[in-house]
Amino acid sequence: MNRRDFVVASLAAASASGADEPIGAGFIGTGNRGSYLLRTTLNQAGVKVVAVCDIKPDRLDKAASAAARDQPATFNDYRRLLERKDVGAVFIASPCDLHVEMAIAALQAGKHVYCEKPAGITPESIGRLVEVAKASRTVYQVGQQMRADAKLQKTISKIREGVAGELIMAKAQRHAGEDLDHDGPSKDWFFDAKRSGDVIVEMAVHNLDECNWAIGSRPDRAGGFGGALLWKDDPPGRTNMDGYTLSYDYANGVKLSFTQIFFHPNRLPNGGQYLYVYGTTGAVDVGAGMYYPRARGSQPVPLLTPEEQKARPLDNAHIAGFLECIRTGSKPLADIEVGATAALTAIMGREAIYQKRVVSWQEFGVKL
Ligand SMILES: NC(=O)c1ccc[n+]([C@@H]2O[C@H](COP(=O)([O-])OP(=O)(O)OC[C@H]3O[C@@H](n4cnc5c(N)ncnc54)[C@H](O)[C@@H]3O)[C@@H](O)[C@H]2O)c1
Repeated sequence: MNRRDFVVASLAAASASGADEPIGAGFIGTGNRGSYLLRTTLNQAGVKVVAVCDIKPDRLDKAASAAARDQPATFNDYRRLLERKDVGAVFIASPCDLHVEMAIAALQAGKHVYCEKPAGITPESIGRLVEVAKASRTVYQVGQQMRADAKLQKTISKIREGVAGELIMAKAQRHAGEDLDHDGPSKDWFFDAKRSGDVIVEMAVHNLDECNWAIGSRPDRAGGFGGALLWKDDPPGRTNMDGYTLSYDYANGVKLSFTQIFFHPNRLPNGGQYLYVYGTTGAVDVGAGMYYPRARGSQPVPLLTPEEQKARPLDNAHIAGFLECIRTGSKPLADIEVGATAALTAIMGREAIYQKRVVSWQEFGVKL
């Protein structure tokens, strides 16, 4: 499909009645993340929330109240929502195991899709999604909002320009002090790795995507160890890990060391999340936008202006970008290739730990 066809198809799906009409948005899964996406979308110009869907009545009621301005139709079966002609764009924020099924159904119904991360939790289902999304005339964007962060965009463009020389290694982590709330509203799916994809796929997919982006490649192989190290069978029946360490060997030769834990004491230094990328002339602290030359006596070099450094990431930038893609036919920052690559990177690490062996990208057989 050429660009003009894409724009025409895009606008047709955006509005059943014409390009000047607001984009009709439908929300599937209106829990924690879905209600955030809904509130943020309500603040965007040129969008009307025409339908909301959740299987939990309290969640559905809350979503309908939040969007009362637009008087959305309510559903507990997402397939009925997809039948609505006035729904041009669908936001999917259901548990992770449902993402692929719902995204494929929405694309096949001719809708634009903003689907929360991860794109999918198994290589087979991601392979199916890639085929459908690539053949689709509508927009698919995955909810990896770091891609819309202007500070990261600038810092990573400096890395691409060679500020640290040729990249050779990277080190990243996602350390939390606590496990997810064992009695929280997501307990029905989060601790079940068959539903969440495990914590590496459900959460660290953001960090691993940042690694792929900054390194400018994707891994060939992964090996590592981990499991439920502290919260053993807690909550009961838990199959998620709570700590692991992984090594990735990237197609461009960069080696990545990555850890995720849920028991980093708050007062112990070096917690939280970071990504350091090492090159032949120095290293970049990607989150901080700082370059540290290796030469003795050299000073750190800010990669962002003081104004850029001060700017807070825009909450709505990723959603605004999605709506812009619908209107203009431009390529989303977190398109199917970004989403599938990030999810497969996380799955590769997970499988290396589960199967106690080195797992390679080729084994997935997903054509991107
Ligand atoms: N991008 C981000 O930073 C970010 C942050 C948090 C969560 N997420 C992702 O968003 C998704 C949802 O996470 P959450 O924290 O909102 O979980 P949640 O449990 O609060 O919400 C999930 C909602 O989906 C509903 N649901 C389940 N099955 C459904 C079905 N068949 N049809 C319609 N609705 C259904 C549930 O009833 C629930 O209300 C997950 O994939 C998560 O990884 C992304």
